[in-house]
Amino acid sequence: MDSFIIRGGRPLRGTVRINGAKNACLPLMAAALLTDQPVTLRGVPALSDVRSMERLLATLGCELSAQGTTRTLRGTDDSKNTADYDLMRTMRAGICTLGPLVAARGTATVSMPGGCAIGDRPVDLHLRGLRALGAEISLDAGYITATAPADNGGRLRGGHVFLGGPNGSTALGTANVMSAAALATGTTVIECAACEPEIEDVGRLLIAMGAKITGLGSPRVTIEGVDALGGATHDVIPDRIEAGTYVMAAAITGGDVVLENFPTVTLGAALDRLNEVGVTVRPEGANAAPGGFIPGMTDTVRVHAARRFNPVQVVTQPHPGFPTDLQAQMMALLTVADGNAIITEKIFPDRFLHVAELLRMGADITRVGPSAMITGVRELVGAPVMCSDLRASAGLVIAGLAAKGTTTLNRVYHLDRGYEKMEVTLQALGADIERVKEN
Ligand code: EPZ
Repeated sequence: MDSFIIRGGRPLRGTVRINGAKNACLPLMAAALLTDQPVTLRGVPALSDVRSMERLLATLGCELSAQGTTRTLRGTDDSKNTADYDLMRTMRAGICTLGPLVAARGTATVSMPGGCAIGDRPVDLHLRGLRALGAEISLDAGYITATAPADNGGRLRGGHVFLGGPNGSTALGTANVMSAAALATGTTVIECAACEPEIEDVGRLLIAMGAKITGLGSPRVTIEGVDALGGATHDVIPDRIEAGTYVMAAAITGGDVVLENFPTVTLGAALDRLNEVGVTVRPEGANAAPGGFIPGMTDTVRVHAARRFNPVQVVTQPHPGFPTDLQAQMMALLTVADGNAIITEKIFPDRFLHVAELLRMGADITRVGPSAMITGVRELVGAPVMCSDLRASAGLVIAGLAAKGTTTLNRVYHLDRGYEKMEVTLQALGADIERVKEN
């Protein structure tokens, strides 16, 4: 298990290009199961989760060809319809093969995805949605089997589905049900659909494959099923979480960083909170021309950070609210703000494993239920810390970049799931960070 050694205190300077979004890419790849024609994705990030999904799709009869950041997937063997535990336990997104498999192949058996350090991750909404499309679902020995109704020629049938749970909609659940409904007979209406940009992106690929979908990005999505889907070529949207992470890394070091391929339009809530903190993200180059800036998906921006940060209140919410996947990074930033900040986690109320590690670095944080009060300290101090999950680890990197002394971050394989060569990107910006490989 590799570690990062970070000697903090260096302002980041330079330019970073944001990669394709992991959380779009994984369900986009699963959508290739809906057709026997080639599906080409451009801008696929080099991440361990993407490699896990490639392995999973290979066991489900998909051939893969890769060139640079382009991947072409083609379902060539539709007799394979079991997703094994060994592949599913490392990556929850494997669950979004269930909808495409049952829709395209009539039946599918998929292992329940593995547990995760950020709290309970139920799949009841995914199953509710597929049942509403007529799938018969059974659970046995940790596997979910879904079968399309025989009295409908082995095809799912359109239905009315409400996908709201106690903490709002479900991102991957919406991708699953929308993908399945694309090949169902009749019309499906998803109410309380996830509005996350990554799910909208999945919808755009499905439309390019021939699906009939309206309402993408809104809480009501309507899908008129078609008999078959074809191949398509699709550009993956930039990763808003990677983008937000580098904004905060630049800010906490008092750096001067330009970010290219920056999806400003997807980051409204995060940029609003950052603005209150004293961190602004302004358009650069052609975008910066007078006449008003219209936030886009692939902007070039520059990060400006005040010398002192204001404490703010942050509540994580479904999109377009503040993303839970930036909560740990925001907390790291607020550890050095001038006063008391409060973060409330409304998506995954137990997603606070980074708190104990930040305390080891001298932060002052009190957790009460789903909230944490962060009292700003003058400076953080380096310490050995442990990565527990992907975004908690990103928060610890941000803290380490600002801390006095050396931070050793153990188990960085969590980071490799969602950030492409993070240490190389940060080195290029002048950070003193190295990866130590363990034999
Ligand atoms: C996606 O997970 C992302 N993962 C997560 O990112 C992200 O944190 C999450 O959406 C929320 O935005 C991928 O896209 C691969 P949900 P997902 O279903 O879809 C509850 C990262 O760090 N729920 O939208 O699995 C659930 O417990 C990862 O990149 C049910 O109750 O999340 C949560 O409270 C971590 N029943 C809420 O809904 C269900 O059947 C939202 O979860 C499903 C979910």
